[in-house]
Amino acid sequence: MSSKEIYALGEMPELGHVPKKMHAFAVRQDRFGEPKDAWQREVLDTPNLGPKDVLIYVMATGINYNNVWAARGVPIDVIADRQKKGEPENFHAGGSDAAGIVWAVGSDVDDIKVGEEVVVHSGWWEPDDPWVLSGKDPMLAPSVRIWGYQTNYGSYCQFAKAQSHQIKKKPKHLSWEEAASYMLCASTAYRQLMGWSPHIVEKDDVVLVWGAAGGLGSIAIQIVCALGGKAVAVVSDEAKRQFCLDKGAVGVINRNDFTHWGTMPDTNDPEWKTWMAGARSFGKAIWDCVGERKNPKIVFEHPGEATLPTSGFVCDTGGMVVICAGTTGYNITMDLRYHWMMQKRFQGSHLANDEQAAAVNELVIAKKVDPCLSETYTFDQIGHAHQLMRENKHFGNMACLVNATEKGQGRV
Ligand SMILES: NC(=O)c1ccc[n+]([C@@H]2O[C@H](COP(=O)([O-])OP(=O)(O)OC[C@H]3O[C@@H](n4cnc5c(N)ncnc54)[C@H](OP(=O)(O)O)[C@@H]3O)[C@@H](O)[C@H]2O)c1
Repeated sequence: MSSKEIYALGEMPELGHVPKKMHAFAVRQDRFGEPKDAWQREVLDTPNLGPKDVLIYVMATGINYNNVWAARGVPIDVIADRQKKGEPENFHAGGSDAAGIVWAVGSDVDDIKVGEEVVVHSGWWEPDDPWVLSGKDPMLAPSVRIWGYQTNYGSYCQFAKAQSHQIKKKPKHLSWEEAASYMLCASTAYRQLMGWSPHIVEKDDVVLVWGAAGGLGSIAIQIVCALGGKAVAVVSDEAKRQFCLDKGAVGVINRNDFTHWGTMPDTNDPEWKTWMAGARSFGKAIWDCVGERKNPKIVFEHPGEATLPTSGFVCDTGGMVVICAGTTGYNITMDLRYHWMMQKRFQGSHLANDEQAAAVNELVIAKKVDPCLSETYTFDQIGHAHQLMRENKHFGNMACLVNATEKGQGRV
């Protein structure tokens, strides 16, 4: 076997041989903008490993919304942000979801072996962060970052650099692209639904899931179902209805049947009454799905500005709105009277810790949660896949092949 400086995609070097250079998709500051143009194929140096790091020969990558944001340079310029922290690279070689083969390990890594087939979860933190060392939730640590978004050398690289704690077992029944497609959304959804006790999913609990045919939502429906809850799905297109029912939703609401979206009018404005009528009829649509007058104990949020006033209103007394994004905007409004009188909780949530990632991975291994891979693209279509996501033209989760040479490889 040769020891070349760079290998073509899919041309596998001898196990453990790390070439000096690699193919990767990256964004640079002078091309921030639409994802289809911002993401470009480049040849980069293969990264060096620290003592607790692992190098992954990436077989396939998932596509996530965070790298739509990274491509546009909003809400933060991830390259400038890292440079402020002392990192020299003037590019962002991202990608937060990988399935592949462990190719090299740092000097302190003794629980992971070269050759293991793995997936990577994207919770990243400094291993010697005092908060982490004290045993507290690392997702609240000062050093926490999202791998492949706030760190470089993610899954759009032929060789990705991760920390050893991020490594999880690859479910054997999944192909490389299926295995690459779920972890970021699945672990985020799991923390939202199971990380904020006592507001966790229990038998017969109603959970309202926004964007239910999207990456997060499609997995959230299945987690709720696996835990015995009743997921009510919200979509914008009738073509997504059957998909949500097939994943286990008890009912589906088309948000286009309502018009009260966006910032809530001032409570003294006459328009507030119209808004409230819309929110009430949306609440009635939830009851119709559930078959009784039962409000959601948990509202699974991520659209933010457009939907939060409604989420706050329909949430049950003592229930929780749990939110991990503001895709439609960050300036949220809410009728506080309902919030305090009915003692609701409004909880932010961000990605997941190692235990939560492992727990949802077990649900996938047990075939209780399907990755909902809708489409697989080639390496050179990484920009295109992000553009589809930006334009809301996709279902479930998407993946791109990296070193895998065709779809369906990797199943055992
Ligand atoms: N903080 C974290 O750890 C974390 C982790 C994962 C994702 N996220 C963020 O969460 C958001 C969703 O991610 P995703 O992977 O699920 O994206 P996605 O696959 O694009 O799904 C988002 C869904 O939102 C729905 N949507 C779009 N516009 C909407 C609107 N105006 N009102 C209500 N719903 C709307 C769409 O469904 P319909 O059009 O059918 O309603 C779409 O399917 C992104 O902003 C992402 O960056 C955060």
